[in-house]
Amino acid sequence: MLRKNSVINYGMVGGGPGSFIGDVHRKAAGFDHQAGLVAACFSRDYEQTKLTGEELGLELNRLYKNYKEMAEVESARQDGIDFVSIVTPNASHYSIARTFLEKGINVVCDKPLTIKIAEAEELVRLSREKDLLFGVTYAYTGYPMVKQARQIIKKGKIGEVRMVIAEYPQEWLASPVEKLGQKQAIWRTDPELAGISGCVGDIGSHIENIVSYITGLKIESLYARLDTFGEDRSLDDNAALLLKYNNGASGVYWCSQVAIGESNGLRVRIYGESGKIEWEQESPNQLLVAYLDKPLEILEKGRDQLDPSVGDIVRLPAGHPEGYYEAFANLYKSYISALIDKKRGKNIKEEEHDYPTVEAGLEGVRFINLTVSSSKTGKVEYF
Ligand SMILES: NC(=O)c1ccc[n+]([C@@H]2O[C@H](COP(=O)([O-])OP(=O)(O)OC[C@H]3O[C@@H](n4cnc5c(N)ncnc54)[C@H](O)[C@@H]3O)[C@@H](O)[C@H]2O)c1
Repeated sequence: MLRKNSVINYGMVGGGPGSFIGDVHRKAAGFDHQAGLVAACFSRDYEQTKLTGEELGLELNRLYKNYKEMAEVESARQDGIDFVSIVTPNASHYSIARTFLEKGINVVCDKPLTIKIAEAEELVRLSREKDLLFGVTYAYTGYPMVKQARQIIKKGKIGEVRMVIAEYPQEWLASPVEKLGQKQAIWRTDPELAGISGCVGDIGSHIENIVSYITGLKIESLYARLDTFGEDRSLDDNAALLLKYNNGASGVYWCSQVAIGESNGLRVRIYGESGKIEWEQESPNQLLVAYLDKPLEILEKGRDQLDPSVGDIVRLPAGHPEGYYEAFANLYKSYISALIDKKRGKNIKEEEHDYPTVEAGLEGVRFINLTVSSSKTGKVEYF
């Protein structure tokens, strides 16, 4: 993951000892040997930053005490970072992303983009004004079979979409692990760090993004009921939503972090006028497709003919599973290739590249906020 003389050099904020997603980003960004990690502020505690920095072989003078110093110094260096990856808890994304954008540095930020809609709008405005590339790592859209699903719908093969049923149940917050010191649970159940929602912000946001990516539909309105089952919790840990899309289709979403027996059960079913597609995160290499009056088809990555636009991210032959790291790497592959083109002076249109942009991040923040507000008021919210 550390690579001298890479085409693209990047830095990281977050991802220190004991953290979850920072290391996934490091592996994914380095997967295709185009990007090398050269600078970081892995933690608010400098000793922790040094620990991770030494493990990864980073130079001491590019390990920073805080992200502001990092943005300042890196933007002034001739060989400064081309982009920064932000992998800190939700509430800090806005100020960190803003600081790097203001210094003219491209950004990759994990979801949810920000806590407030106005903050996300400001990041959209700033990245456009500064002409910087901004990716948001909704990891699940990086899977080849999700891209195939998108192509099937785009080409009208299942007709106009009528219904979307999507769920994302997990069990890991079924007991109060935040009280036992579980690092990831502590901040996800704290509104100061997670924002106004727990479960919807953390994983409901993935449902919103993957459905929007696969179908191309826009949510017109939604009605939500949020629950908090965990003792002494202030944020939701379970949610059910009814939705209406801009083409008249209906949707039902369920996300939960207290659903015992469920590990990471993201599952999307889309029903059109003449067919259905179904994809499950825990069996990501297959896509189920059904057409009216025809036998069920199970398409498999590496074995079956996929749309040409999907083909070049299938990395292994038939029967060799690809998973979360590869999906994440596919987002980085697309982002880094856009960045390389930009460095070579090409005029980049982000929408022509296949990674979630800052606009997708803004849609996600709107979704979280409207969901919470619908549950509070008991009313339908309109986008
Ligand atoms: N895309 C996905 O599938 C996915 C999966 C998991 C997490 N996430 C997102 O990634 C982010 C991080 O989640 P996590 O589970 O890795 O959290 P974590 O608690 O495991 O790690 C957070 C890290 O950020 C560091 N940190 C906090 N504030 C900092 C600051 N101001 N400067 C520098 N470092 C700082 C912490 O020390 C820690 O190392 C969250 O926004 C989460 O929603 C996304």
